[in-house]
Amino acid sequence: MKRIEGVALRAGGARFELLDQTRLPEAEVWLDATDPEAMVGHIQRLSVRGAPLIGVAAALSVASLAERGADGPALHRALRRLREARPTAVNLAWAMDRLRAVLDRGGSAADLVREAEAIHDEDVAACERMGELGAALVRPGEQLLTHCNAGALATAGIGSALGVIHRAHARGLGIHVWVNETRPLLQGARLTAWELRRLGIPHTLVTEGMDGTLFRAGKVNRVVVGADRIARNGDVANKVGTYTVAVLARAHGVPFHAVAPWSTVDLACPSGESIPIEQRGAEEVRGARGVRWAAADASAFNPAFDVTPAALVTSLITERGVVEGEQLAAGGLARLA
Ligand code: MRU
Repeated sequence: MKRIEGVALRAGGARFELLDQTRLPEAEVWLDATDPEAMVGHIQRLSVRGAPLIGVAAALSVASLAERGADGPALHRALRRLREARPTAVNLAWAMDRLRAVLDRGGSAADLVREAEAIHDEDVAACERMGELGAALVRPGEQLLTHCNAGALATAGIGSALGVIHRAHARGLGIHVWVNETRPLLQGARLTAWELRRLGIPHTLVTEGMDGTLFRAGKVNRVVVGADRIARNGDVANKVGTYTVAVLARAHGVPFHAVAPWSTVDLACPSGESIPIEQRGAEEVRGARGVRWAAADASAFNPAFDVTPAALVTSLITERGVVEGEQLAAGGLARLA
């Protein structure tokens, strides 16, 4: 396998390694992900996360298994297990299906490696293109708000929503970013703030409960978020809390953009109603990172994602182009297929 040195993964050396995102921002610890069964655990614990990145990382892990001489049944088992590791981000199933198609047509280990590398490289290129397309919409001095983490820690490249922010900053637009903490697993506070700091992009952390205050005070000019699955009609599944931001944006006349590579679009899904939403454990809501503040037996609800209806989306930004909200209901997304 060729050498890959990303922000969140390293491949092509003796080990396939992932940056353990559960340890950020305090510690930069690299995990061995050479064994796909270990990779299933890393995905489920969110050591590796973000829709595009879990597809890329799972593909590279299967490719490294093939390189080490695994037989067909072992490779099929790994693809099946990884495909089911998390249900909402369609990128994972999409990547595993691409590798399965290689196996089904009798492909060799070298063919699998080439396909996994292509999945990686395509995501890097998609991030660049989305970054340019999105940055072209941003006006000088704007204040942007983002939710969760859709950056280099969630993709193979510069990120989707954060790629737009990255490129807007690089154009010298003088932007400032409001970073939603993102309860319950704090991807905004821990990961997005870590990335923006490394990039030198001015930002301020807020908890989601403060969003209404920001919008009402006119302090948010544009919302950019990522996506885990986009249905044919333009409904967007993303980290829970995104829908609330979209409602606020609409109420205050602020543009709301979902930014995602084409691998996140699921044309087989007619609407958000058919997107499976991952339900996670109650302990993630009762506390975080080893500290519990609710009663040990407090009943808790923990859907990891929500669905923003297409009607609230100003535009979807993919590497294939920008689809305006009004075009979504008229099948505008499928026209890019
Ligand atoms: O549960 P996570 O951290 O994997 O959720 C990630 C998100 O919701 C991101 O916004 C999405 O995957 C897009 S990443 C480019």
